[in-house]
Amino acid sequence: MMKIASGILAMALVMPALAQAQSVDVSIDTSAPGAEINRNIYGQFVEQALGRGVYDGIWVGEKSKIPNIRGYRKDVVDALKAIHVPLVRWPGGCFGDVYDWRDGIGPRAKRPITLNRVIYTEDNTVGTHEYFDFIDLLGADAYVSVNVGSGSPMEAAHWVEYMTSDKDTSLTRLRAKNGHPKPWTLKFVGIGNELWGCGGSMNAQYVSDVSKRYAQFINAPAAMGMTKIFAGPNGAGTNGTNANVLNYTETMMKNMPNMQMLSIHMYTVPHARSPGTPQGAPFTRGPATGFDEQEYALTLSKGLAMEPLLTQLSEVMDKTDPTKRTALSIDEWGTWYDHEIGESYDFQQNTIRDAEVAALTLNSFQRHTDRVKMSNIAQMVNLLQSMILTKGDKMIVTPTYHIYDMYQPFMGATPYPAHVSAAEYRYGDYHIPQIDVSAAKGKDGKLYLAIVNTDPHKSVDVRTGLTGSATGRILTGPAMDTHNTFDAPNTIRPVAFSGISENGKLVFKMPPLAIAVVAVQ
Ligand code: AHR
Repeated sequence: MMKIASGILAMALVMPALAQAQSVDVSIDTSAPGAEINRNIYGQFVEQALGRGVYDGIWVGEKSKIPNIRGYRKDVVDALKAIHVPLVRWPGGCFGDVYDWRDGIGPRAKRPITLNRVIYTEDNTVGTHEYFDFIDLLGADAYVSVNVGSGSPMEAAHWVEYMTSDKDTSLTRLRAKNGHPKPWTLKFVGIGNELWGCGGSMNAQYVSDVSKRYAQFINAPAAMGMTKIFAGPNGAGTNGTNANVLNYTETMMKNMPNMQMLSIHMYTVPHARSPGTPQGAPFTRGPATGFDEQEYALTLSKGLAMEPLLTQLSEVMDKTDPTKRTALSIDEWGTWYDHEIGESYDFQQNTIRDAEVAALTLNSFQRHTDRVKMSNIAQMVNLLQSMILTKGDKMIVTPTYHIYDMYQPFMGATPYPAHVSAAEYRYGDYHIPQIDVSAAKGKDGKLYLAIVNTDPHKSVDVRTGLTGSATGRILTGPAMDTHNTFDAPNTIRPVAFSGISENGKLVFKMPPLAIAVVAVQ
């Protein structure tokens, strides 16, 4: 069965290439290496009390028939370990700014049942100890967002003390009583979430003042090297301009010149809520599957807004911080569609279109490494642009997961500028670069290329000046919404891919709708 499926895929790769291949030239400038690609660029976000992201998706409990490690799904843990998740941001998201950390410690049976967004209940089964157990299983770093919106600096300071202090205090004794005498390592602490919206509807000046106050009281032992991440603006500009996000950033940069890291959120929503639609009122974001080419081109063009935003943000940050002390984290990003009918909040399918958005976005981050040191795709399991979807005891990995898997050689790599000759995929008013390339020297010394063909119809011969051989993997599919299902979990997965040598130079025959990552040697 497997053999037949990959045979069909192999034919699909070859046929369009023979039919109508265009040509694009790529040159890699190895004389201008950029700042290292921080491995935290491939970070993940998990939100408590939202849909089936934590419960079902990650946590099933020790007594579940679903194979688990101390309550965590073994299939999910194994899949995530395979992509070497560098960090997991938790507990929110908007949930972070209604969370009382004390609800999630102590004997589970005694933890309170709380209300989230007036809709969802949370029994706090997963709390601080469970979160750290989970990231230990993954070998990932901790990134905990503290409650600024409805909490207090004192509560946040106490939580950080509970997690990190190595002194003998009442809180560290409580931690020991709850089963963890030693402090955990908290690499990153987030000062609130979306303080412009669900985190308290504050303006940038007020956010700066409040955040400074919190930051002053939130401290971990110096040796831990904990980074404080300040909640910045929403990157999704309105009226076709990024003016709001840039002004907001400028205000925060001026008021907090010593910020270690500033975060933004930037989702790709094909059809955003029209201005004036009341919060909570239903609106249509667009379907995750079964969409037409208009939706495909629209989604890609919205995803591509990340690159100019990063360029503009960098310019603004450079004004007050030319030495680039303040790093940028894209704390939440990803595609956001209508959720699947009959499914929980924001559970959406994931197709080759999402793989394209993921690859284009990661390529953008890899071109802005002087500022972008972290990103956390939203969200890891069963929510928005997930790596993994679960249903009962079944689990599938998504096309986006495969991109994260294929991009692993870029972790810690040194990026090189890649110049691509002009070629466009056009649909209606949308003009989208047909080929996007990111290049970097991996930690193993090899040159890696990530090549994206956005065109859903046309193959492209990507011609380089490189010599030698190139092998790797390619992800593609016959339709714009090719995806995996619980009944057909391997419909889309990467297959072997190589460059060919023409006149001594490497050429990559990219089929339509395809992302390839190859090592050149
Ligand atoms: O990821 C879902 C929600 O999107 C998060 O709670 C919030 O931070 C953002 O608006």
